[in-house]
Amino acid sequence: MVALRWLTQTALASVATMFLAACPGTLGDEQVATPNLSLATSLTSKIASTIHNGEKNSLVVNAKNNDDQVLLIERIRAYLVDPEDHERVIRTLEPARFTTKVHATGEANLAYRFVPYLDHERVTLIVNVEFADKAGNKFSKTAYKETVSIVEPPTFGFDPQLWSIYLMFGVVALGLGYWAADLFGGSKPQKPKNPALAALDDARGVSGESADDWVPSHHQAPLTKKTKSAKKKSS
Ligand SMILES: *[C@@H]1O[C@H](CO)[C@@H](O)[C@H](O)[C@H]1NC(C)=O
Repeated sequence: MVALRWLTQTALASVATMFLAACPGTLGDEQVATPNLSLATSLTSKIASTIHNGEKNSLVVNAKNNDDQVLLIERIRAYLVDPEDHERVIRTLEPARFTTKVHATGEANLAYRFVPYLDHERVTLIVNVEFADKAGNKFSKTAYKETVSIVEPPTFGFDPQLWSIYLMFGVVALGLGYWAADLFGGSKPQKPKNPALAALDDARGVSGESADDWVPSHHQAPLTKKTKSAKKKSS
């Protein structure tokens, strides 16, 4: 009897061990092995390992599914951290959502763009890809972790991408030029002098230059109108 009991217990224990070994995912959520998704990231900046401050930066994560099940890419999260202490987050960048399915042995390119505002010279850029397996288990894998130099935008430079803005400024400047030429041009007859001010000038003994010459012409306009209407009334 004892021998039989021992045999049964041993058999049950070995069956349980075999079962657990065959299905590692069933023991608990923390036991689910991360699916084999290989990630390779390339920054698209012209100079290697640099990002541009206050400008749009982009990178592409190539995700290769080496697993035998479909994987769903859900999000890219990126952080700029202290190069000396990766736990110290300097900036949390805007995450990007995805609903990209990568089939077994398939691959996908994930584009991610960000605009950083920093007053640092070097930071470590960390890019994490969040994805889920068929059963809905969530995983996060680091796709990029490199220390990059920050390139400041040029204080002045001709950017061909801004040609439409330059054109607009050009047109406005041209218009202002014409307006100024029309307003201050010598073709117009001299405006009549405000009689009150002229009298004041005479009293002071100032002759020749008008006292209101220093007043910008748009401030003189109402005075001139008054003078005109006054003249009409008196005539
Ligand atoms: C993932 O798959 C690649 C390609 O098949 C292989 O080289 C690599 O060793 C695998 N990694 C793991 C952790 O299984």
